[in-house]
Amino acid sequence: MSKTAILEIDGKKYEFPVIKGSENEEAININKLRDLTGAITIDPGYKNSGSCTSGITFLDGELGILRYRGYAIEDLADNANFLEVSYLLIFGELPTAAQLQQFETDIRKHSLVNEEMKGIIDGFPKTAHPMGVLAALTSALTAFNPKSVNVENEKELYQAVCKTMGKFLVIATWTYRKSMGYPLNYYDNTKGYVENFMNLMFALPTEPYKLSSVVTEALDKLFILHADHEQNCSTSTVRMVGSSHAGLFASISAGVSALWGPLHGGANQAVLEMLEEIHQNGGDTEKYLAKAKDKNDPFRLMGFGHRVYKNFDPRAKIIKKAANEVLGTLGVDDPILEIAKKLEAAALEDEYFKARNLYPNVDFYSGIIYRALGIPTDMFTVMFAIGRLPGWIAQWKEMRENKEPIGRPRQVYTGSPLREFKKPV
Ligand code: ACO
Repeated sequence: MSKTAILEIDGKKYEFPVIKGSENEEAININKLRDLTGAITIDPGYKNSGSCTSGITFLDGELGILRYRGYAIEDLADNANFLEVSYLLIFGELPTAAQLQQFETDIRKHSLVNEEMKGIIDGFPKTAHPMGVLAALTSALTAFNPKSVNVENEKELYQAVCKTMGKFLVIATWTYRKSMGYPLNYYDNTKGYVENFMNLMFALPTEPYKLSSVVTEALDKLFILHADHEQNCSTSTVRMVGSSHAGLFASISAGVSALWGPLHGGANQAVLEMLEEIHQNGGDTEKYLAKAKDKNDPFRLMGFGHRVYKNFDPRAKIIKKAANEVLGTLGVDDPILEIAKKLEAAALEDEYFKARNLYPNVDFYSGIIYRALGIPTDMFTVMFAIGRLPGWIAQWKEMRENKEPIGRPRQVYTGSPLREFKKPV
């Protein structure tokens, strides 16, 4: 017999079905609640509310499990590359060699960005934060690719996916090139996706650019680890915006804005800024640990804690290993990294952090790798966005395919009751 949940309001009982996910997670389906009772539920921050059913990503915060389409993140990080994982997330299955090759070819084919987009970039001051520029440019892609707004069949959807994967990578790097005053680079069809990222970012017309396989492999892994994380803030934003049938570029642009905040994707930048501050103030990690524990001090240890992972972040384990490899191979000797190690070791031993299950999250280590690769701090969140792109696309596609209704939460009004209009004197 299927399970139900009973709710009693003013002595009257109502029964609601309990649905079960494929990993046995249970949820009370309350979609008839208001019709039956007149009441709604309230759950700020959605800590207890599922917004959808989804077949893309499974995570268990207590056990530290993360899987894309059923595959363990550890397996994918070891055995697949970023485009394979992107294909898996978006289309549901790992690609065959031929499908992967076709996907790469189609992304390349659509990587050119309309030259007039450069006029938009020129309108920004050089000091503009790259995430703000990226959100604006992503949204502007809609104007130059109007067909991608109303995708009506699978072919158009596939094209919109390839366009987004190709063009987003290019404009993401352009935000950096603009800030440096460098000429804007184009996708090189002889190179892979992640190699292209490095080329687009760093190649100069004056000399040949030498790619390091250690660097591209580490970046590939980082992108895989960031590729999806079920209904987080930016992904929920992408689904919410898309639920009004806004196009893919507009929805992704909203996701970029959501990701920008320091409590979400902006945390990797905030980690490095915090480490730099500690360094400049004499490297006293104990002082900053004490600040983080002081309830009268708003300071939080950036890169620690997670809304969902309350034991450990499985991505952090993988990335910690990658960070050690990259730093070792590149022979990086950086006082900031020493501070990071000291802070991590001290926090892991500290009762305050232990009692609250606060562990380093993926952002604690990703910022360290990006710094070692010479990526400027304010580009860190852009790096996250490049990695998260296939997840956003997959979730947007699933939301449209499931024919989900427009997202429109309710509220409990706590303002003034009706009052008579009188002009203040
Ligand atoms: N430093 C110090 N104390 C912390 C921290 C931290 N980084 N994170 C949580 N706490 C404390 C809280 O003060 C609270 O203490 P209390 O129970 O005594 O009041 C307790 O731990 C629980 O914290 P919440 O804020 O309820 O946890 P929540 O799940 O709402 O927040 C969040 C998670 C936002 C990630 C939080 O841990 C944080 O601000 N971390 C720093 C920012 C960060 O690294 N964000 C990246 C998230 S990962 C990502 O987006 C990929």
